[in-house]
Amino acid sequence: MTHAYPDSPVFYRKLAHDYPKIVRGEGCWLIDERGKRYLDAVGGAYVANVGHSNPEIAEAMAQQAREFGYLSGTMFTHGPVEELAAELAETLPGDLSKLYFLCSGSEAVEAALKLARQYWIERGRPSKQRIIALGPGYHGSTLLALSASAREAYKAMFRPWLVDVHRIPASYPYRCECGGKNASCPVCSGAVLEEAITRLGAENVAAFIAEPVGGSSTGGSTPRPEYFKRVREICDRHDVLFVADEVLVGVGRTGTWWAIEPYGVAPDIMTLGKGVSGGYAALSAIAVPERIVDAVAKGSGNFMHAQTFSHHPVGCAAGVATMRYLKKHSLVERCARMGRVLHERLRPLAELPHVGDVRGRGLLAGIEFVEDKASRVPLPRAARFAETFADAALEAGLTVWPNVGHADGTNGDLVMVAPPFIIEDDEIDEIVSRFRKALEKTIAMVKVRA
Ligand SMILES: Cc1ncc(COP(=O)(O)O)c(C=O)c1O
Repeated sequence: MTHAYPDSPVFYRKLAHDYPKIVRGEGCWLIDERGKRYLDAVGGAYVANVGHSNPEIAEAMAQQAREFGYLSGTMFTHGPVEELAAELAETLPGDLSKLYFLCSGSEAVEAALKLARQYWIERGRPSKQRIIALGPGYHGSTLLALSASAREAYKAMFRPWLVDVHRIPASYPYRCECGGKNASCPVCSGAVLEEAITRLGAENVAAFIAEPVGGSSTGGSTPRPEYFKRVREICDRHDVLFVADEVLVGVGRTGTWWAIEPYGVAPDIMTLGKGVSGGYAALSAIAVPERIVDAVAKGSGNFMHAQTFSHHPVGCAAGVATMRYLKKHSLVERCARMGRVLHERLRPLAELPHVGDVRGRGLLAGIEFVEDKASRVPLPRAARFAETFADAALEAGLTVWPNVGHADGTNGDLVMVAPPFIIEDDEIDEIVSRFRKALEKTIAMVKVRA
């Protein structure tokens, strides 16, 4: 039996794909019903950070479900939500200390931006409602998060429903004329943010949202070391809230608890998700300082964002178990260490045809494909290089995450590698050898089609 549309009652994510059916997970591996093994080099979608089938996390969730599965966060509190907030608060930068839990990254972004708006209303400054975001940039699929995202292909159909988010260019060294090397480049220094705030009028701007390290959007690009200090200083001077979207890069993924840490500043609001529960439950959160929550507490009294499944007991129990597992086994430190190994082994891939750049931090790597390595001209979109590569990789028993369109909005092909933090040395070698195989096959397939 195939697992493909229209043979199954499932409305699949991809309607032209015959899905392997996974029956078991083991650490960094997934095994399908035919016994084929897949090295999960991207943790599904940057999610399975502690690997698959972790018995401690499974037991914590089962234990919570046996005690009670659900209660409303408007009526009661419970152990897992209190413990998870404390576990996370211990790791958070600056004065971020209060956590509001949700179920997905998109919801966290919606909540963060709505809170920014509510904050300025509570403070008696209702004109501050514009949002500034980066391009390329991705913040989610729900309408406000999509508005903040720079994915034209995702947005085109829904344009009439989206809000007008002001866009400035993201720091993207590989595609910037200065190569990220010029401290006075307006884009790579962050100066473009100040220009945008001045143009819109600071009295109209509520928040600036950015990923501290690019996820799929700029494929693991890291802005210059002083970038976020400049952003922080500009936001402070103009009374604009800085929202750091750490949904993909947070909870250790780049080798520090939070990707913003090496920049030496803290945001006003942080979003997190994906790896916070290791993928064992749908869990995300916003982290906020008391000074922002206080404005709400002393004003209207409640954050105007209601969701049935916020502060969910079993979700939070998965989060507590994941956070404790990460801490007990020093997995964030391990992520930094194995990240160095990963980058060292991936670097030679840059010698291969069509590999334009290999970059990233910690166990997050972006490999960008181009038509011509010298000019960095992207491959034509019609070649579907990144998607073809991801399919070839899956056939070779390797999961990667493809992304397209970042070079100019339409063209641009890259794939991301982000394995679980428990990855071993020989598994990293296996990623590299399967990657090479998939690339050879992709080049051959794209040539045949052309
Ligand atoms: C940086 C960033 N923010 C937000 C989201 C949205 O998260 P979700 O897909 O869980 O809604 C994503 C998803 O990939 C992301 O990478």
